[in-house]
Amino acid sequence: MSYYKRHIFFCTNRREEEGRQCCQQAGSEEARDYAKARAKGLGITGAGGVRVNKAGCLDRCEEGPIAVVYPEGTWYTYVDSADIDEIVDEHLVHGREVKRLKI
Ligand code: FES
Repeated sequence: MSYYKRHIFFCTNRREEEGRQCCQQAGSEEARDYAKARAKGLGITGAGGVRVNKAGCLDRCEEGPIAVVYPEGTWYTYVDSADIDEIVDEHLVHGREVKRLKI
């Protein structure tokens, strides 16, 4: 059995050079902080529960901002806090993929 039941990684990569988008431009740091606070507030974090982490570039930059949930390997993009709420409440809590946000 794995240490965490589910693990979500938010790409928070910041790219300095022009011409290619990066997730941090789209508010991924704030999104990760928001998701972490929400998961904590729901009491689902910790061993046997959920972990919310930052990640470097996941190399799907043009589809971003990007988050990925394991063990399912479900890739998401998101726009606002309502999207994050749905990913946390549906996928992290109940294991139900949020189809409308999948990439
Ligand atoms: S910068 Fe986020 S996937 Fe590349």
